[in-house]
Amino acid sequence: MVPYNSLVPVTDEISDQIAAQMLINTITPSVLIKAGHNSLKPPITLPVYILQNAAASGVGRLLTQLALDRGARPIRLVRSNQSAEWLRAVLPGPPVFATNDSRWKEQVREALGGYKLHVALDAVGGKAIDGLAELLDEDGTIINFGSLESNTGTNIYSLAPKNLALKSVSILTWFRLPMDEKRKDYELALELATKHPGLFEVAHEYELGDFRSAIQHVARPGKTGIVLLTSPA
Ligand SMILES: NC(=O)c1ccc[n+]([C@@H]2O[C@H](COP(=O)([O-])OP(=O)(O)OC[C@H]3O[C@@H](n4cnc5c(N)ncnc54)[C@H](OP(=O)(O)O)[C@@H]3O)[C@@H](O)[C@H]2O)c1
Repeated sequence: MVPYNSLVPVTDEISDQIAAQMLINTITPSVLIKAGHNSLKPPITLPVYILQNAAASGVGRLLTQLALDRGARPIRLVRSNQSAEWLRAVLPGPPVFATNDSRWKEQVREALGGYKLHVALDAVGGKAIDGLAELLDEDGTIINFGSLESNTGTNIYSLAPKNLALKSVSILTWFRLPMDEKRKDYELALELATKHPGLFEVAHEYELGDFRSAIQHVARPGKTGIVLLTSPA
């Protein structure tokens, strides 16, 4: 038994694999885009660039798409050239740079073409925050939403010289939003799932009893897409 208000109606065109992830993976970038927007000081001057790391992740790809849909200009960071090539192929458009290339910060500055950078979205944590801080302009904001690398090791002094803010975001706040706003995110999830099904890639499906293999798969190098647990109908 499931409470009726926990159910989301899904049209037949959306596969079970996409339905299983579309809401949770849309809420996160939606909350991030709002936090990024709210961090900008009015009047907002265009174009608005955002710098995002772990950009090949499921959340990262949806974040890029939402940012593009809202008219922002994402600059994407991944760890390796292999990941950069994969990301350019599955979601072409905005620049992608690999942080294992020692020139990545210069490459980001070149991509900005003299425009300011006031928002960076961080899913990696630790020293990655220092790297983002180096690239942000005065009064910019780093929005942290994950710690794939580490939850320690940030040099807090990387923020002070440019008055940078560090903000954290969790989707738990989403559950406290008014119903109207939640409904907009349901609609957004349905729209993304219909228009961009390729953004909801599945790495592998495991039966519930094989949850150990599923957990191991989540951390496997080179994994693309999400790992799903299935149960008999
Ligand atoms: N705050 C919230 O409420 C919330 C909610 C959902 C998700 N999240 C966060 O969103 C992030 C992405 O989650 P996801 O489920 O979308 O991930 P995912 O699809 O499993 O992808 C993980 C990606 O992160 C990169 N990565 C893995 N380890 C890394 C490391 N040590 N340093 C840098 N990059 C690393 C890998 O990219 P490359 O190898 O290609 O670089 C990989 O493509 C995570 O930080 C997660 O905690 C936060």
